[in-house]
This record gives sequence, C-alpha cells and structure tokens, in this order.
Amino acid sequence: MCGIFGYLGKSDAAPILIKGLKKQEYRGYDSAGIALNCDDNSLYVVKKAGRVSQLERAVDFSVKSCCGIAHTRWATHGKPSDENSHPHTSGDIAVVHNGIIENYQYLKDKLKNKGYKFNSDTDTEVIAKLIDSKYSSGTELIDAVLYAVNKLEGSFAIAVIARGVNEIICARKNSPLIVGFAKSGYYIASDIPALLEYTKKVHILKSGEVLQIKEDRAELTDFYGNKLKTEIKNIEAESSDSELSGFESYMLKEIYEIPASVNRTVTSNKDITDFLKNKKFNHIYIIGCGTAYNAGRAAESYIENWSKIKVTSTLASEFRYDTRLCDKNSLAVFITQSGETADTLEALKAAKECGAYCLAITNVENSSITHIADKSLFTKAGPEIAVASTKAYCCQVALLTLFAAGFAKAGGNNELFDEVCSELLLETNRISEYLEKQNVSILAEKYKDTKSVFFIGRGRDYPLAEEGSLKFKEITYISSEGYAAGELKHGTIALMDKNALVVAIVTKSDMVDKIVNAVCEVRARGAKVVVLSTLEVEARFKDISDDVIIVNGGKFPTIAAVVPLQLFAYYTAKIKGLDADKPRNLAKSVTVE
Ligand code: G6P
Repeated sequence: MCGIFGYLGKSDAAPILIKGLKKQEYRGYDSAGIALNCDDNSLYVVKKAGRVSQLERAVDFSVKSCCGIAHTRWATHGKPSDENSHPHTSGDIAVVHNGIIENYQYLKDKLKNKGYKFNSDTDTEVIAKLIDSKYSSGTELIDAVLYAVNKLEGSFAIAVIARGVNEIICARKNSPLIVGFAKSGYYIASDIPALLEYTKKVHILKSGEVLQIKEDRAELTDFYGNKLKTEIKNIEAESSDSELSGFESYMLKEIYEIPASVNRTVTSNKDITDFLKNKKFNHIYIIGCGTAYNAGRAAESYIENWSKIKVTSTLASEFRYDTRLCDKNSLAVFITQSGETADTLEALKAAKECGAYCLAITNVENSSITHIADKSLFTKAGPEIAVASTKAYCCQVALLTLFAAGFAKAGGNNELFDEVCSELLLETNRISEYLEKQNVSILAEKYKDTKSVFFIGRGRDYPLAEEGSLKFKEITYISSEGYAAGELKHGTIALMDKNALVVAIVTKSDMVDKIVNAVCEVRARGAKVVVLSTLEVEARFKDISDDVIIVNGGKFPTIAAVVPLQLFAYYTAKIKGLDADKPRNLAKSVTVE
C-alpha cells in the first residue's frame, strides 16, 4: 500500500527513483511522483495521476540531482489526481508518506489557523506543513522532522528532503521502511526486493525510529533524538527473483513457480512443530485477510482432524470484535504473505492482549509481524509481485497442512507427518506436470462473456470455491461468488439462467454425489457448468456439464485444485485486455485498516 523510494549518493537520482518505483508499483499504482534536491539548490517536483510510466514521461532527466524521494500511491484520503499525488510540499520541504495520519483534520485546522493553505485532500500534506512550520523558522531539518513525528497519530513511513540540504530523513511508525547501504549510496524503499539490485545490506527501520541520511553517514535515533545503533542485516534473496524472466506477466510466472516454492516451503519446515512440545491449547484461531484467510480455511479441517482441537477461522478485521473466547489457552495463527497487513497486525495485538500464544506464518523475514509474534514460521514463496496471490497461497496451504500434521507428530505419530511431507512434495510434481499441459486459456475464451460466475464446493472445497471466486473477481471484474454447494437451493439458485456460469469443485469422493445433484439443479435452470475435480470422475460429469477439468491431486489435493482456478482467472483477464498484475483499486500490501 503505497511504495516509497529514496536515493542519496553520487549517481543521477531520477532514473534510480523511477526504477525503484517500477519495482514497487504493485504496492499502489493510481499516481506517482518524485522530488529532487537539485545541484543548483532548487527543488524539482513532478507528480502525476496514473502509472509510473506516465510520471517517467513527464520527468526531465537532464535535471542534475543525486538526492531525491519518490512515491507510488494507493489512494486513501483524496481521489487519485495530480494534486493528491506525493511528494507533498510546503516551502522548502517535500515529503512522501505511506500510511494514514488519523489526527490530520485536527492538525490541518491548527495549521490553517497559522495561515497555511492546503492544495490537496490528503492527510499527508499536514506532514509537509508541520515540518515546514518548524523548519521555516530556522530549526534544523532533523529537529523539524522529530517535532512533526511526535505530533502525528496513526501509521506512517515517511521520507523527507529540504531544498538545498543534501540529506534525506526517514521515519517509521508501523508502516514498513527499509534503508539499503551500498558503495554507490543510500537507498530507501518500502520493501526489500526493490533494494536488491543495489545492495543486500539493509537496516529495517523499527517503529519509532528516525534515520538521518547524509552523504557520508546515517544516524539513527528514536522519535526524541536519542541515538540508536543501526542493525545491518545481510539479505539472502536475489534481485532476479523479482524479474519477469521471459513470462508475459508476474501472475503467470508466479503460478508456474508454485511447484518450486511449495517444495522449498515443505523442505525447510520439517521441524515445524517443535515449539508445540510442552504446550497445551484448547482453541486454535486462524486469522488472516483476503487470500491468506482463504488459505487458513482451506487447511482448517486438517488442523482440526489431527490436533483434535477446535479451530475457528476468522477474518483479521473481524477478529478484534470477537475475542470473547480467546485466552491464554488459545493458539492464534496469523497468516500473511507480506507480514505487513494492518488488520492482521492489529488482530495479533488483540490476541496478545487476551493472553493467546501468537504464531505468525509469513513470507517475508523481518516483516513487522515477525517482531510482534511469539513465533514465526516462513513460507518460501520468494517475492510475490502480482497483486492477486497465487504461489504464496499454495505455500500457506502447504505449510498449514504440515503444521496440522505436526500436531500428530507432537502426539507421537511420526508416520503421518512423514506421509504428509512426502505427499506434499509429490503434489508439487503433479502440479508441474499439469502446468506443462494445461490449456485453460481455451475455457477462458469460451466463457469470457459470462456475466456472473458461481464457484461452488462442499466441505474443504467450499473455501477453495471462495478462493477461486476471489481470484476471478479481483482481476476480471466479472461478478463472482463462492458458495457452499448445498446452500444454492436456499436462495442463490434464483440467479441461475443462461448468463450464469457455475464452476463446481470436488476433491473428495464422498462429495461427488452431492455435487452431481447441484450441477443438475443449476443446469436445469440454464446455467453453464464447468466441473473441476482432482478425482477420476469425468464419466460422472461428462453428460451433465459443459466442461470437465481433471487435475491429479493425490491425498491432499487442495493445492493442486487451486491452480486451474488461478489460471482461469488469469486467462480471462488477459482475454479481456486487463492488467492481471495490477487490478484496479487494489494493492498488494494493505498497510491501512
Ligand atoms: C491484499 C492482497 C491479497 C492478500 C491480502 C492479505 O488484499 O491483494 O492478495 O491476500 O492483501 O495480504 P497478506 O500480505 O496479509 O497476505
């Protein structure tokens, strides 16, 4: 949710900033801007509604500067427009911001009383004016920033420059911010992959830290100016992990990376439940947002089966209002690809207040959640750039399935754990085979004009149906719903006619008869039907459906079954000429509540 990039060094800043924004465009892409502290002591600011490529066309690359900040936005306060784009300026100050300033109206009113005029509808503009209100009266830039951050409520990662001062000041409260240290200079970004091209040495700012970056040194303090020591970490990832590598889009590339990333996730998490030894829980909560929530639900039945403990899956944004039964005997498992989702972080804080043991399952080492959870386990999906999650979801389901089997292991049943491990690894081979021969684009072409799609399933296939639907609607903009197949007849069947498409999912043999019934019922009302199964059931559905997709799923087929659903969404978006990697109104990492 919003990407920040900054550079201070010896090279030309503008091309570096634009490149940094392009790498982080998945975080938000409704507008973008840069501010350069120019060699001739002027401040050069360009900001534009639209994609980074539009900004790039507007930037004068002959402007000389080795110090600048940049931003790609996902609008919260104020519509996407040139005025509301970042950087926001006031006098000599320019600021980029990720997060939400909750007391901005109060601060705005006070600043207006002091004579400040506002040019945008954003919360961010108050930060620029607040800093300027001190800086313009002769205060050092660092002191003016410290003054401002202590007045701000809410969440923020900011980078600030001032005309004619060769330094960048960044500060963080909640929203992520990372600084890379390289021979060629200092690089600031909202995520690590954006920095990897330049350096693997980074300091991840903690909430409450301020870093003053000058040409020859960087000084870290808290919000009160007390000196702190930077903790430089060496990052293992490669910059090529975030490249397209010949694929036409990140989403397609990431679907094709599912087998390797699930394999990595399983092999690196074989001691997954060591921490369960000597712990007793009477309730397990699985909490997440969007696709991460669906991953929790997809694995819920395995966890309940093998732990014999009641499992409740909850949306992070709802959990905070439903903590009644959460207590010190509860295990709360938080699933988040980014480790930065604001609702998930807030839910974790709420669970901690109840005394629950908090386990994070995340894809990003050193992400915010890893600093507040009692324990973190890592999926190994590698960087996921497309907004719609694909390989991260599969890794989450794999890790949760392993985690579920870990309860059996903790109870002495090693055999089951080993079986689950090897089945999951076999599943990656099956998915590779499927990906080699898949022809889902034909189905996408056939059904591209469908007005509404209903994904249906029963039992563990119901969450799968919901994930299929989420994927489909978020990138095709075609209305879709995930339904429990048995519920159709209680209302939704009223929507069935020749314009509807039903995707019926069945991965469990004891559900086949019931899904046959549902398929017959919707077909009798004119709906088209595609059946997706991991079982040899083609003969059962051939005459009662329009198309049947069979994927070899093995014993734990939840991961294999999602792949055609992801491909179906992808190819439909592609055929409709849509940008599957960057769907409208969405962002990859949602760092606001
Ligand atoms: C956004 C993304 C989804 C993701 C959700 C949760 O909505 O578009 O793909 O599932 O956030 O993100 P997290 O990083 O917590 O898994």
